[in-house]
Amino acid sequence: MTAVGLAAAAADESPLDATIVLRDGGLVRIRAVTRADAPRLKAFHDRLSPVSRYMRFQRAIREVSLAQCERMSQADGIAEIGLIACAVEHEGARVIADARCVLVPGTREAELAIAVADDWQRRGLGDRLLVQLFRQARNRGVDLLFGEALSDNVAVRRLAERRGARLHMTRWGTTRVSIELRPLALEPLLVTEPRGSRFEAAR
Ligand SMILES: CC(C)(COP(=O)(O)OP(=O)(O)OC[C@H]1O[C@@H](n2cnc3c(N)ncnc32)[C@H](O)[C@@H]1OP(=O)(O)O)[C@@H](O)C(=O)NCCC(=O)NCCS
Repeated sequence: MTAVGLAAAAADESPLDATIVLRDGGLVRIRAVTRADAPRLKAFHDRLSPVSRYMRFQRAIREVSLAQCERMSQADGIAEIGLIACAVEHEGARVIADARCVLVPGTREAELAIAVADDWQRRGLGDRLLVQLFRQARNRGVDLLFGEALSDNVAVRRLAERRGARLHMTRWGTTRVSIELRPLALEPLLVTEPRGSRFEAAR
């Protein structure tokens, strides 16, 4: 163990609630969203730049309503898996990323969506969050994740391609992204020691 107690968790033992180290040393807690997170989710979406919000929701929206954030905070971990990332530098109270997938009833497929706060982008967080979402979705029997992205969304296309996604242009000018989960080799998350009390206040 190093000074911060780094430990690589075994692939299938990656904890559901983990504080991870980004490649630039930034510390981020990734955990399941809870009902108490609705106002934090609202603040997160309100802070997104108009471009990021547009890319995430694929239409121009000025704000995401609290009602929608309340719904997003109620992901049950079965029909919908919702993960958030919180910045350790804000004592875990600030949501800086959200990734989720919603199961298509009667199938082993789920629709994926992700957003990372603008000032946290290009630090490896989107990829870390995806890996954790892939692992949890696969553990729950999901075989395929898919999503539709605006075709000029280079960031999500590259992010997904790096993880083995197939991309298809649709006739509406969007790109359909699909990722087979079974064959994926998911490396362990680089996690710190189990959570300490400094995060408890944010729950
Ligand atoms: C797409 C998004 C989630 C990526 O998150 P991120 O934390 O910046 O991604 P990462 O830092 O993990 O990047 C992983 C890889 O994806 C690619 N990538 C990410 N952002 C990119 C960009 N703006 N341009 C080109 N490639 C990019 C790169 O290959 C990157 O690896 P590298 O930094 O080693 O080159 C983020 O840009 C975002 O929230 N966008 C707005 C919302 C959105 O578009 N959601 C997707 C539709 S639901």
